[in-house]
Amino acid sequence: MEQIKRSPIKDLLMPTGESPVGRQVNVKGWVRTKRGNKNVAFIALNDGSIIHNIQIVADVQRFGEDALKPITTGACLSVNGTLVKSQGQGQQVEIQANEILVYGSADPETYPLQKKGHSLEFLREIAHLRPRTNTFGAVLRMRHAMAFAIHKYFNDKGFYNIHSPIITASDAEGAGAMFRVTTLDAKNPPLKEDGSVNFAEDFFGKPTSLTVSGQLEAELGALALSNVYTFGPTFRAENSNTPRHLAEFWMIEPEMAFYDINDDMDLAEDFLKFLVRYALDNCMNDLQFLNNMYDKELIERLQFVVDNKFERLTYTEAIGILIESNQIWEFPVSWGSDLQAEHERYLVEQHFKKPVILTGYPIGIKAFYMKQNDDGKTVRAMDVLFPRIGEIIGGSQREEEYDILYKRIKDLNIPEEEMWWYLDTRRFGSAPHSGFGLGFERLMLFVTGMTNIRDVIPFPRTPQNAEF
Ligand code: 4AD
Ligand code: MG
Repeated sequence: MEQIKRSPIKDLLMPTGESPVGRQVNVKGWVRTKRGNKNVAFIALNDGSIIHNIQIVADVQRFGEDALKPITTGACLSVNGTLVKSQGQGQQVEIQANEILVYGSADPETYPLQKKGHSLEFLREIAHLRPRTNTFGAVLRMRHAMAFAIHKYFNDKGFYNIHSPIITASDAEGAGAMFRVTTLDAKNPPLKEDGSVNFAEDFFGKPTSLTVSGQLEAELGALALSNVYTFGPTFRAENSNTPRHLAEFWMIEPEMAFYDINDDMDLAEDFLKFLVRYALDNCMNDLQFLNNMYDKELIERLQFVVDNKFERLTYTEAIGILIESNQIWEFPVSWGSDLQAEHERYLVEQHFKKPVILTGYPIGIKAFYMKQNDDGKTVRAMDVLFPRIGEIIGGSQREEEYDILYKRIKDLNIPEEEMWWYLDTRRFGSAPHSGFGLGFERLMLFVTGMTNIRDVIPFPRTPQNAEF
């Protein structure tokens, strides 16, 4: 086969410079469909560079029927040919094939991704192949675009990316059950005299787990570099089998010295708007597909979020609205209890009809590190609530006063020996500071219009499921 440099299909369908029509080109990709007649075969080829396929036109006489036989849905090809203006409808250009090489065939009897639309549930069972569908191609390209936009946003603002550890010896967040990390023999662990497991003999010499959040280490970074952010995997062993929870998810946690809770909210709103705008500006091919296939209001909703100021109110005010709403709740509403998804979605979708930021939560339902208000009852927490998602961001101003923080740690029976390094930052050059965590997959749910979090991460980890 003649050596011609491969062109991404995107560059042929949407050239940025001079038109490539008339050129000899090579494309490589996977067959989506083949149709045709005795004289000509039309092959739709996709290489993932863009949602659209390029049409390959193969003359049956020239190649011979037998040579075209292994070209079935799912097969991988390399094609040399001339890029021409298309005579047919549905595409601007197509490739008149000169040479076709089949890298890998795909048995039509057993290849699971045939032409018809498959349910998202079925596609989860073949997560190893679902990147080859239009839907997951779109989701994965957008996931990349959002990850890039996050780094761009913070880099442009002078934030430094901090790599917080994945393995940790502290359950600082108290955010949920943790996954133990150990090299001890599960059947026969070393025991202490009292019969408990002797973690002194474990790999790290003490019990360790996968992190639930990089925040505490981000705080150490912020109290030296001023503005930092983490972007890494986090793990929660909650047994919550919902469309919005994963056991392994990615979180972005900016942490800023000299920011109070209002600065924190301003950054969170600006950040989310930047990301949604970035999706609108850079992912329109994929967005249009998702809008047509799954969610006819997707693009409109994204535009709405970019254009409108988020509603800000206190938890106490929100409780008042929920009580006055006269709705029938599954979980009763009362001051001091945590808001459930049904309450959050009522505020966002029915009452305000726009994103909402709640502040001033009761101290009893929030983490130990949050800055206490003078009322003795509430903390400077903030949650950003989004339509269809509920909580997309959780954050707070941090307690920077040693005595108050120390007392809180004691009151909650958090082992001091796990926290000495964190407390040290309040002993040496403490400073007011704030931060928040954005759940990356919650963002992905919002920007793609998908409804199940298992469909916005390549290989979801949920209770009873760690396949692939
Ligand atoms: O509200 P959370 O638990 O806050 C923290 O972890 C803080 N340390 C953040 C900070 O202030 N630096 O989690 C933050 C966000 C949530 O708002 C949600 O978007 C997402 O992480 N999240 C999950 N996403 C998917 N699956 C789960 N199980 C999640 N738990 C939280
Ligand atoms: Mg939260």
